[in-house]
Amino acid sequence: MNILLTGGTGYIGSHTAVVLAQAGHRVVLFDNLSNSQASTVDRLAQITGQRLPLVVGDVRDEALLANTLRDYAITAVVHFAGLKAVGESVANPLLYFANNLHGTIALLHAMQATGVRQLVFSSSATVYGNPHYLPIDEQHPTGSTNPYGRTKLHVEEMLFDLARSDASWHIACLRYFNPAGAHSSGLIGELPNGIPNNLMPYMAQVATGQRAELTVFGDDYPTSDGTGVRDYIHVMDLAEGHAAALQHLGSQPGWDAINLGTGQGYSVLEMVAAFSRAIGRPLPYRIAERRAGDTAACYADASKALTLLGWQAKRNLDDICSSAWAFQQAHTT
Ligand code: NAD
Ligand code: UFG
Repeated sequence: MNILLTGGTGYIGSHTAVVLAQAGHRVVLFDNLSNSQASTVDRLAQITGQRLPLVVGDVRDEALLANTLRDYAITAVVHFAGLKAVGESVANPLLYFANNLHGTIALLHAMQATGVRQLVFSSSATVYGNPHYLPIDEQHPTGSTNPYGRTKLHVEEMLFDLARSDASWHIACLRYFNPAGAHSSGLIGELPNGIPNNLMPYMAQVATGQRAELTVFGDDYPTSDGTGVRDYIHVMDLAEGHAAALQHLGSQPGWDAINLGTGQGYSVLEMVAAFSRAIGRPLPYRIAERRAGDTAACYADASKALTLLGWQAKRNLDDICSSAWAFQQAHTT
C-alpha cells in the first residue's frame, strides 16, 4: 500500500513508519515539524535503509494535502498529526480546536477530493473520561475532561457520521493507552520539549541527572500500593497495531474503534522499580500530592484488537524501560 502518515516525524508516527516500511509499504511522511525534526528522516533511513519522502506542511493546508495524496497515489492515511498536551489545551483551547479539529476536517476534504477512503485515526483512552469500570472495553461510555480529550472525541464522532453518510469510507479509531519506550536502535524515541508531563520521559530525565527526583503524584489511591495505575504499551507494539489495522481496514468498510493497550496495569511505584532495574540503580523519587484531574487506574480490555486484528502487545515493562533509557542516553549531551 501507499500510506501517508500525517505527523509522521513525531514519536508514534516515526515508529509506525519503521514497521510499515519494513513490511514493504511505500510510506510518505507529512508534518509541519511543530513538535519534531526533519532529521528524523535521516534516522529512519539508518534503521530501514530507505529514505522516506517528507512533505513539510500543515494538515490545515487542504490543497497541499490533496496534491500529496495525488502525487504519491496514496491509498490509506494514518492521521497522527495533532497537539497532545492536556494542560496546554486547558490554557489555549482554540489552539487545540484549530489544530486537531480543523486539521482533521481539512484532511477529510482532501481525502474526499482525491478518492482516498481508508483512514486510521490516532485516538486515545482519554475518550473514556473517568473510568466507570475496569478493564475498559470499547463499549465503555465516552466522555472527556479537558479540551484535548474533547478534540479526540469530536473527531471520532465526525468520523462516525462520515462513515454512516457514505459507505465507501473505511475508518478505524485506535484508542491508545499509555505509549512508552523506543525503537531498539536508540535512534528514535520520545523527546519532549521542556519539563516532561508524562511519567516515562520524566523518569528518563531523572536518570540522566537533568532532574533531581521524580515527584510521585499521590500514594493514597485505591490501588495495590496507593499510586496511580496505567496501561503502558511499548511504542513498537503500538506501531505494529497500526500495521494490523491497515491490513484489516481494506476489507472492512464503516467505522470502528479499537483499544490498543496491553490489558495490564502497572502502578507508578512498579514503574519506578522497572526503570531502576533498567538503569542499574534506584531512581530517586518523593511522594507528593495527587495531580489535579488524575484518575486512580486506567487499563484496557485489549481483546477486540486480538479478535479483529490478530494483534496483541508482545513486549514487557523491562523492554519499555530499557529501550527508553537507551534512547535517552543517546540523546543527552
Ligand atoms: P508527537 O507530538 O510526537 O507527534 C505529532 C506530530 O504531529 C509532530 O511531529 C508534530 O510536528 C505534528 N503536527 C502537529 N500539528 C500538526 C499540523 N497542524 N500539521 C502537521 N503536522 C502537525 O505526538 P505523538 O505522541 O507521536 O502522538 C501522535 C498522535 O497520537 C497524536 O494525535 C496524539 O494526540 C495521539 N496520542 C498520543 C498519546 C501519547 O501519549 N503519546 C496517547 C494517545 C494518543
Ligand atoms: N505521574 C507521576 N509523576 C510524574 C508524571 C506522572 O507520578 O511526574 C503519574 C501520574 O499521576 C499517573 C501516571 O504517572 O498516575 C501516568 O501519568 P502520565 O502523565 O504519564 O499519563 P496519563 O495516564 O496521566 O495521561 C496519558 C496522556 C494523556 C492521555 C491519557 C490517556 O498524557 O494525554 O494518557 O490516554 F489522555
